[in-house]
Amino acid sequence: MDIQFSADRPADADVLVFPVGKGGPDAGAWPIAQGKMVTDAARSARFEGKAGQSFSTYVDQDGSTVRILLVGTGSDGFDKAGGAISAQLLTSGAQHAALMVDGLSTEQAADLAYGAKLRSWRIDTHRTTLKDHEKPSLKTVTLVGADQAMQDRWTHLAAIAEGVAFTRELVSEPANIVYPESFVERARAKMEPLGVTIRVLDEPEMEKLGMHALLGVSLGSEKPARLLALEYMGGKDGDKPMVFVGKGVTFDTGGISLKAPAGMEDMKWDMGGAGAVAGAMTAIAGRKAKANVVGICGLVENMPDGRAQRPGDIVTSMSGQTIEVINTDAEGRLVLCDALHWAQETYDPAMIVDLATLTGAMLVALGHEQAGIFSNDDGLADKLIKAGKDSGDALWRLPLGKAYDKLIDSPIADMKNVGPRSAGSITAAQFLQRFIQDGVKWAHLDIAGMAWADKDSATAAKGATGFGVRLLDRFVADNIEA
Ligand code: BES
Ligand code: MN
Ligand code: ZN
Repeated sequence: MDIQFSADRPADADVLVFPVGKGGPDAGAWPIAQGKMVTDAARSARFEGKAGQSFSTYVDQDGSTVRILLVGTGSDGFDKAGGAISAQLLTSGAQHAALMVDGLSTEQAADLAYGAKLRSWRIDTHRTTLKDHEKPSLKTVTLVGADQAMQDRWTHLAAIAEGVAFTRELVSEPANIVYPESFVERARAKMEPLGVTIRVLDEPEMEKLGMHALLGVSLGSEKPARLLALEYMGGKDGDKPMVFVGKGVTFDTGGISLKAPAGMEDMKWDMGGAGAVAGAMTAIAGRKAKANVVGICGLVENMPDGRAQRPGDIVTSMSGQTIEVINTDAEGRLVLCDALHWAQETYDPAMIVDLATLTGAMLVALGHEQAGIFSNDDGLADKLIKAGKDSGDALWRLPLGKAYDKLIDSPIADMKNVGPRSAGSITAAQFLQRFIQDGVKWAHLDIAGMAWADKDSATAAKGATGFGVRLLDRFVADNIEA
């Protein structure tokens, strides 16, 4: 579905869309025939203009039947209202929606387009038997009465929507299609044209660097691991880069500590952190942000096999610290610890934010509403939480501390990779913190409950959400570019 702009209502538009704010529909407001009837009908159907609400009807205009859609914006829900346009029209038979944006602010109009674009994303590439009437019909949403400022704002948001779509694509694809090497190739194809430099470490290179924690996870897999770095230097020469690190376990069986079969297919999206980093880099480079940003993806598959690592094995990480692998299903932290160490050694970053579908305990704590944030710096945490609020990717802070850290001490190595059952998300974060060097501001986002949704939301159909892309993009825009 494409967004276009026009001064007048396009002749081939087969549905007219009107945003309606708080207070509900108003008979005087419609530049259409039978405006009073539309208002009365909408009110009788309890349409009040609440954000995301919609009402659909038809009017007779000079003998032809015209489809009408009212979408509620509430006081500030323009992205939600945009989402409702796609939710209602995507497979409705309508092909071209004329969206009336007269009288809206630049931000409001662009947010409508943004919500519509985000909500229209779907993946049909693996369906071969979709009937015509099941396929998306809506090809275009034209903003009628839009000015240049709205178009400019949309260009900015379109780049972010492109990043969200890329994350959703990577996360949705199954593990036989997106695995470390193919993840790298998709990222390359997407981002090289945007001016992103792609750097890839293969297994022999990681071996040389001593990344035995990451490589240990990969031992049971036929798919070779990769460490992917996406470098975008749009800021001042010499400015230290912001670094994002993502957990990219393209499939997590648990390894020898094998997971139960029920729901294991979900673990195709255990690369949601790496997916978010790739999407955020797509957004940031796509809109030519004035910032130096590096995205790093630790890409491995966690499989059981004769060569797989065993519970009790001790591995030496790139940092030199040794880890007793109590549970091979706590693999994300093993991947991240080497990626985080390499990131600090290679880029001397100003700040690091990692994203990972790290612990089931995160779902127990926060469900599917907010991701957890852990940080060694209050200022960084506050800025990320604010970017989350403003972008729609909500974060809730959880604690770190010495007492939690002690829980992962090992009797035989420097640490073990799991703590006791309680505080599972916190001990995972403590593990990561052991690899953060003095003076480096760091935050860890546990997005286990957020990468995937079992139900539709205002701006995403169920499935991969793209969580993290809008958040990281916003964080860069507000704190690094500003
Ligand atoms: N990828 C999982 C965490 C996860 C679980 C994400 C459910 C999303 C939904 C992670 O690798 C894992 O298996 N964690 C274990 C850690 C445990 C063994 C300490 C968990 O949470 O059970
Ligand atoms: Mn696991
Ligand atoms: Zn995992």
